Amino acid sequence: MAFAVEAEGLVKHYSGRAGLIEAVRGVDLRIERGEVFGFLGPNGAGKSTTVKMLTTLLSITEGTARVAGIDVAQDPDAARRRMGVALQEAGLDPRQTGRELLVLQGRLFGMSARDAAARAGRLLELVELEDAADRRIKGYSGGMKRRLDLASALVHEPEVLFLDEPTTGLDPASRLTVWEEVRRINREGTTVFLTTQYLEEADQLCDRLAIIDGGLIVRAGTPDELKAELRDRLGLDADPTLDDVFLDATGRTRRRVAGDVQEVGA
Ligand SMILES: Nc1ncnc2c1ncn2[C@@H]1O[C@H](COP(=O)(O)OP(=O)(O)OP(=O)(O)O)[C@@H](O)[C@H]1O
Ligand SMILES: [Mg+2]
Repeated sequence: MAFAVEAEGLVKHYSGRAGLIEAVRGVDLRIERGEVFGFLGPNGAGKSTTVKMLTTLLSITEGTARVAGIDVAQDPDAARRRMGVALQEAGLDPRQTGRELLVLQGRLFGMSARDAAARAGRLLELVELEDAADRRIKGYSGGMKRRLDLASALVHEPEVLFLDEPTTGLDPASRLTVWEEVRRINREGTTVFLTTQYLEEADQLCDRLAIIDGGLIVRAGTPDELKAELRDRLGLDADPTLDDVFLDATGRTRRRVAGDVQEVGA
């Protein structure tokens, strides 16, 4: 089958009190199976809105999207079975234990109690939460919650995993742990679509990436291609960093890119 994720002319309009908000203004995407694809952009660029359209959580104003070959608007149930999603705002019940959450997820996807328990055990191992598995989530650190959320998106063995800012707010060590999990998941065959504001993360993790600004994709390619393009265009002696590419693409200073997310560029 062709692409893991394919979008053509994706548009999202929100109608707010202030009138129409054109959050996404015509996004095309083609993500190969097996890729780790990074979706970068400043605050409010349209990253989460795009992810929510691709994952059936928001209606599509215009355009089409397919995940694992399935049109998400025409057959949302089938599309959902092929994808896992960990959103920017994780929705974990603090009273449950990690294991209970994963078993419940498995049961919701129609697994037997035995299969759900086995799957939960394997996922807890994958994200290195075996020791905390039977503690309540409210006692988990931010990094542990992120990893549990990652595990819960994987319960039904999705072909495509969407992660919206999986490492925002994590300390550097926890961030590296999440990167390692993402690599491991990808090695097992899952295509990963992740949004991030950390350019180093994109550089380390992503085979290809796109930069979105103001609802439109302004750059797309491999990290090396994007750096080489800027180097050639500006006639630089050495390769620029992905930070330089991002700033060039979005025309922002680092401070303004950071907005209220102070970790960016720190
Ligand atoms: N439910 C909503 N109603 C109205 N406007 C919205 C809604 N959700 C997002 N927007 C607007 O759409 C635009 C894109 O928002 P979106 O959340 O997709 O950006 P983002 O790239 O994910 O930003 P961030 O980096 O802050 O997470 C912004 O202008 C935002 O204010
Ligand atoms: Mg967002």
